[in-house]
Amino acid sequence: MITEQDPTKLMKQQVGKAAADRIKSGMIVGLGTGSTTAYMIQFLGERLQSGQLQDIKGIPTSFQSTVLAKKYGVPLTTLDEVDHMDIAIDGADEVDPQKNLIKGGGAAHTREKIVDSLAEQFIVVVDSSKLVENLGSTFLLPVEVIPMAISPVIRAIEKLGGQPELRMGVKKAGPVVTDEGNLVIDVKFDSIDNPAELEKSLNNIPGVLENGLFVGVADLILVGEIKDGQPIVREIS
Ligand code: 5RP
Repeated sequence: MITEQDPTKLMKQQVGKAAADRIKSGMIVGLGTGSTTAYMIQFLGERLQSGQLQDIKGIPTSFQSTVLAKKYGVPLTTLDEVDHMDIAIDGADEVDPQKNLIKGGGAAHTREKIVDSLAEQFIVVVDSSKLVENLGSTFLLPVEVIPMAISPVIRAIEKLGGQPELRMGVKKAGPVVTDEGNLVIDVKFDSIDNPAELEKSLNNIPGVLENGLFVGVADLILVGEIKDGQPIVREIS
């Protein structure tokens, strides 16, 4: 049931529900990370509890999605247990007109890229504030780095023209530590003209595990919008 009044939360809820409604019995589902995907996991759990759906297996992309799946009764599996994934549903921090993404606002982009890329269909769930003309215009680009390599990676990113900053914890002293035990550098680029090339250049730096550019991975974007005071879901395919 949707009860939220805050417009952004309402859009996130609506789009999370629309994505959960696309899941069919028997599917293996990649469970993304973030506040929008959290609603999807909640609605998926409700569909399972009501008997509308059976035989779902979720593959979580983070500690957060593991906890939410357990809370809402979504059975979990691992990539070792399955030979395919039917669908993955995940949020994004920016979406460009070519359906390329920046992800990693929740520092989960390494596992998210593994899971989202393996799915036969990858659906992105966002509210309309995430749509941009050029990637990097509203959000810094997250890069996950192995801790011992943090200084050389920062220097290498500066050579590529980026302005890196180590992501610090909120309500925790010191840097953010990812679910894999690594650090995150958020990078400002004046413009990201060629996301595919930048994705490869960053991942080529020794010590970089993964960056938040998702190029050519998304199949469908579900965008939550408010129209005439009502939440609607628009599709970009
Ligand atoms: C986590 C992510 C999230 O999907 C992204 O930050 C969007 O989150 P939200 O739905 O809370 O806006 O990439 O690493």
